[in-house]
Amino acid sequence: YRNLKIALLGAGNVGARVAQLLIEHSDELASRVGAGLELVGIAVRNVDAERSVDLPQELYTTDAESLILSADIVIELMGGIEPARSYILQALHSGADVVTGNKALLALHGNELFEAAEQVGAQLYYEAAAGGAIPIIRPLRDSLAGDRVKRILGIVNGTTNYILDRMDVDGDTMEAALAAATELGYAEADPTADIEGYDAAQKAAILARLAFHTAVPVDAVYREGITGVTSTMVDQARRSGYVVKLLAICERVVDPETGAEGVSARVHPALVSRLHPLAAVHGAKNAVFVEAEAAGDLMFYGAGAGGLETASAVLGDLVSAARRHVAGGPGVGEVFTSFLPILPIGTVLTRY
Ligand code: HSE
Repeated sequence: YRNLKIALLGAGNVGARVAQLLIEHSDELASRVGAGLELVGIAVRNVDAERSVDLPQELYTTDAESLILSADIVIELMGGIEPARSYILQALHSGADVVTGNKALLALHGNELFEAAEQVGAQLYYEAAAGGAIPIIRPLRDSLAGDRVKRILGIVNGTTNYILDRMDVDGDTMEAALAAATELGYAEADPTADIEGYDAAQKAAILARLAFHTAVPVDAVYREGITGVTSTMVDQARRSGYVVKLLAICERVVDPETGAEGVSARVHPALVSRLHPLAAVHGAKNAVFVEAEAAGDLMFYGAGAGGLETASAVLGDLVSAARRHVAGGPGVGEVFTSFLPILPIGTVLTRY
C-alpha cells in the first residue's frame, strides 16, 4: 500500500471522533480504499487543551499551514469563517482534496470555494455540512442528478426539533426544553443560531443549491425562528391534527407576475399533518423529505448532530476523496474484497 497523508484541522466534538475512528479503523479503511490513510497531524489553537477523546499527543500542532502543505487530503472541522476559508483555499491550491463540515462557511462562501476547487481540479466534499450523519448531499448531487426536484421539506435543526417535540409530547415550556437541549449538547455554542433559525437557513442554502443547481446565497433564505411559538399554539395544532415543526422549505416557484420559474428557500415554523412522515421525527433527530418529479417522494432520516454520528459522514467523504487518489483502487459500486462472511440467518420479519 502507498500511504495517503491526511491533515485534520480542528479537534472539537466531530474532529476528535474523526481522528479516533481513523486510527481505530485504519486497516479496514485501507482495504476499502486501496491505500493507507495516515493521519499526519491535527491543527489546533492550543496543543495542551483538555480533549474529550484521548489521541496521541504528538499529532497536535499549531502550525496549520505546514500541515496543510504536507497533506494529500485536508479535513476542515474547525468551524467559523476565518481562518477556515483561507486554509481550505490554501489546501485546494496546493493540490489537496478537501473534506469539510463547515455549513456556515459553505452557505456564505460556497461559490468561491467550489470555483477554486474546479479551477485546480480538486474536489470539495461536505456531506457533514447538512443533516449530520444523514446521507443527503450525495443523493441530491448524484442519485437525483437526472431527476427534477420539486420541493424539499427539511427538519434540519435538532435543537429546535427537540424543543418543539418536548412542548408537544411532554407539555414543557420552551425555556425548560431549551435548557434540556443545551444540557444534552445539541445546541450550538450560541443557541441563538438554533432558536432563531440561522443554522437551519445555512443548511437550506446548501440543500437548495444542490437541488436546483443554482447558487443560493444564505441571505436570500427567508428566516424565522421558533421564539414566537407558544404552548397554546402547539396545543391548538395538536387538537387539529397537526404538529408544529421548524421546516427548511426549498421549492421551485413561479413568479405570479412574470410567470418566470425560480427557487424559494425559507425557514419558519410550519404546521405538519400528523399523517405526514415528518410528524414522526421526534427528539433531536433530523429528516429531509424530497419531492422529485420522476422519483416521487423520498425521505432521509437520522441523527443531525453529535460528534460520532457526524464523524460517519466525514469519514465517508474521506474514503471518497482517497479513492480518487488511488489509481486502480476500488470505486463505488465495484467488486470489493469481502472480509466479512455472509451469515445464513434466514428470513426475519421485523415490525416497524
Ligand atoms: N445545533 C445543530 C442542531 C447541530 O441542533 O441541529 C448540528 O448542526
